[in-house]
Amino acid sequence: MDIELFEQVDRYIESVLSLEDPVLRAVDQSLDEAELPRISVSPAQGKFLHLLARLCSARRILELGTLGGYSTIWLARALPADGRLITIESDAVHAGVAKRNIERAGLADRIEVRIGKALEVLPQLQAEGAAPFDLIFIDADKPPYTEYFQWALRLSRPGTLIIADNVVRDGDILDANSDDERVQGARRFNAALGASQAVTATILQLAGVKGYDGMALAVVK
Ligand code: SAH
Ligand code: DHB
Ligand code: MG
Repeated sequence: MDIELFEQVDRYIESVLSLEDPVLRAVDQSLDEAELPRISVSPAQGKFLHLLARLCSARRILELGTLGGYSTIWLARALPADGRLITIESDAVHAGVAKRNIERAGLADRIEVRIGKALEVLPQLQAEGAAPFDLIFIDADKPPYTEYFQWALRLSRPGTLIIADNVVRDGDILDANSDDERVQGARRFNAALGASQAVTATILQLAGVKGYDGMALAVVK
């Protein structure tokens, strides 16, 4: 596989479309400084999420897995002034880095960072009577992806777009006997997506600066 070529083309795309600005570059720098993993979505993927949020005129967005807020900022930039994004992050250090980045992006009025494990925060959102979300981005830990999908359905309405990152994993999802729990989580999720009568879905393979992976897209029926 010519992953180096895909990386170079990704850099070309970033350059020809001027995808990053100082705020987004500062997010990358903050990850380095705090020694957080560099596993944010790529610039082209961030813009893709942003375009999807615009296409569904999203006013309410839910994200699982904030890290430093890179994807959060791309998504929130698609919101109208009175729109809201809730992002769930279990690691308080990650959440702190994200909050600073969100402040710097001028988006603190639109974004709420909820610190906690997603499987604990999601029932809280339901108990609070949260209105359905227009777009839900699943990008936290991989083993419970199927449970996250079930929660996404509970917090949806017909037409809600559900997106899940990292569902191809270098093609490792082909390996039914993988001993990697992330791979098994993605396999269970992909199978649940295919079996669900509640959504219509596809999975896109993606290659570039993030290596070889993929995102699932599903619209609630
Ligand atoms: N969406 C981010 C990347 C997220 S990386 C971006 O593209 O910019 C995955 C994040 O999920 C990490 O910050 C990790 O701490 C967080 N996480 C892991 N397990 C979690 C859980 N159970 N609940 C909420 N967040 C979790
Ligand atoms: C991992 C998680 C991610 O969200 C990602 O985009 C890449 C890798 C991981 O946990 O390995
Ligand atoms: Mg991811």
